[in-house]
Amino acid sequence: DGPRPLTGRKAIVTSGPTHEPIDPVRYIANRSSGRQGHAIAAALSALGADVTLVSGPVSVPDPMGVKVIHVERADQMRDAVLAALPVDVAVMVAAVADWRVASAADQKIKKHPGESIPTLALTENPDILKTVGHHTLRPKLVIGFAAETQDVESNAMAKLERKGADIIVANDVSPATGIMGGVRNRVKIVAHSGIEQWPDLAKEEVATKLAAMIAERLKQ
Ligand code: C5P
Repeated sequence: DGPRPLTGRKAIVTSGPTHEPIDPVRYIANRSSGRQGHAIAAALSALGADVTLVSGPVSVPDPMGVKVIHVERADQMRDAVLAALPVDVAVMVAAVADWRVASAADQKIKKHPGESIPTLALTENPDILKTVGHHTLRPKLVIGFAAETQDVESNAMAKLERKGADIIVANDVSPATGIMGGVRNRVKIVAHSGIEQWPDLAKEEVATKLAAMIAERLKQ
């Protein structure tokens, strides 16, 4: 066993997508496997942290030694995150749906041949990262992710400010990169002090490096 510099520290990690119901059988979601978020929860735990992982619906297993709260919708994810405060570090990796259906149907919406096709009225979901980044119980370290398909750096810089985060881990998830749903990741660490490009790594390696960086920053 290596050193456990995060012993006595508390962490929240969000992971996976959220599912926003349309009716009891249909939903809106983002693409997210939960691989990166779950790996980060495991890496923080391996360094001794007391980790609460708030996960949307995923097929990856719960990491060992981590308290896992399973949720479906963004509002449930927000409630679980806020209930876990205060913590030393929050790492928001979940691909939260930006919108939900304004009034989800109680019964399955039926298809009636010849009738008009339903339209979905959407409403904005809570921004969990932004809520935590501006909270009175704001963790010492607030880290967000940015999955972009263009202008990765400038979008991440803007996100730092808007969300009240200390670090944005930015990745280019253009389909050609194979990152989404894949086992590897190539990220940029965007902080107020500057931008650091990490090489192409397994998602577990990204998690290990990020956990080490978190331990280093919390020491200061
Ligand atoms: O604005 P955007 O969705 O690109 O920001 C991504 C970051 O914000 C991620 O860290 C994600 O977990 C977080 N987020 C959130 N709640 C939302 C939307 C995004 O926590 N409703």
